[in-house]
Amino acid sequence: MKSLPTDLLRKLPVSLRIELEENLQRKNLTPSEMATAHERIEPELRRFVKPGRPRERRTDDDEIPQVLGNTDERHEHETSRIIAKCLGVSGPTLDKAVKVARAATKHGTKKYSDLVKEMDRIGPSVAYSKLKNYEIQEEAESKFEELSRKDPSTQLPKGAHLFNADFRKAELPSSSFDMIFVDPPYGREYLGLWDGLGKWAQYWLGEGGFLMAYTGHEWRLQQENSLAKYLEWYHPCGVLNSGHTALIWKKSIKVRHKPLCLFSKGKPRKHQQFFDFLTGEPGNKELHPWSQSEMEAKYYIEKLTKPGDIILDPMMGSGTTVAAGLRLGRRAFGIEIDPSTYKRAYTRIAEISI
Ligand SMILES: C[S@@+](CC[C@H](N)C(=O)[O-])C[C@H]1O[C@@H](n2cnc3c(N)ncnc32)[C@H](O)[C@@H]1O
Repeated sequence: MKSLPTDLLRKLPVSLRIELEENLQRKNLTPSEMATAHERIEPELRRFVKPGRPRERRTDDDEIPQVLGNTDERHEHETSRIIAKCLGVSGPTLDKAVKVARAATKHGTKKYSDLVKEMDRIGPSVAYSKLKNYEIQEEAESKFEELSRKDPSTQLPKGAHLFNADFRKAELPSSSFDMIFVDPPYGREYLGLWDGLGKWAQYWLGEGGFLMAYTGHEWRLQQENSLAKYLEWYHPCGVLNSGHTALIWKKSIKVRHKPLCLFSKGKPRKHQQFFDFLTGEPGNKELHPWSQSEMEAKYYIEKLTKPGDIILDPMMGSGTTVAAGLRLGRRAFGIEIDPSTYKRAYTRIAEISI
């Protein structure tokens, strides 16, 4: 066992050394077996390992936060790193497998035990992202239940109106919105949705009102053409990606920006001067896997509308546009078709105090 410190090895009882050598190093364990082995070995191995020094929280999105303030956590962290070394995986990978297995024990439901089985196919990182998603969703569901018991008029901040519906069937009380800010799905299978968006935007917008939409790259032309059937083209805008660069393999292109297109209904209204290209910020992926940053919506809404104006996001996801609009003193409407996503948006907006 070359990788482990010799002074530690010398201290270990034979049974534990065999456990580490035979069960961990030599066998090719699946992630769920690694987690089981960890839970079996860690408490005993811990007796021979010192806790590490306090560490700072890591902030990257898909890493487990290393908040190792308390001695017990630091102790387990050190021991787990030794076990991970023996298993030939990174510490965070083992942590994720363990968290998924522990969640199954804690919840004791089929959904979570299925996730442990699924982890052996999809790997600990994807399984852990799914676990976080389950937990966030469950928290949103329970907050939503709690909110539903309150008087409906006090559930959302003043000026916020949310609908769980297909935007093409939603009955909105107004057809004079000042701006639509939206981030529709970009894939080829959704191209029809863009035509519906153009048609409904033409109906919903007041004269001179704006529609701004994030577009994808691959189908951008078709998406913009769909909108151009109903609205006037105004200007291309964009955001520099805040995170990593995405590579389109088949084209050998490294994508560093997100395009946004800007249309108006008829002659555009007067607006403040604005930059057509921003440096982006990451969205909160815990709220929605495709969540955009509030900063981007805020910037364009502020420049293109006035306080008191009405904003609409007909495909709101986690409610980023609605949150941005409300914080700027606009009234904001949001529509979302997916019931779970709608509940997340609802609880997010309910927590905004303006
Ligand atoms: C790219 S996401 C929006 C993410 C959002 N910008 C955020 O920051 O959370 C697009 C959303 O549109 C919703 N959607 C798709 N088709 C829809 C429809 N016909 N009506 C309403 N919402 C729809 C999807 O469920 C998804 O949540």
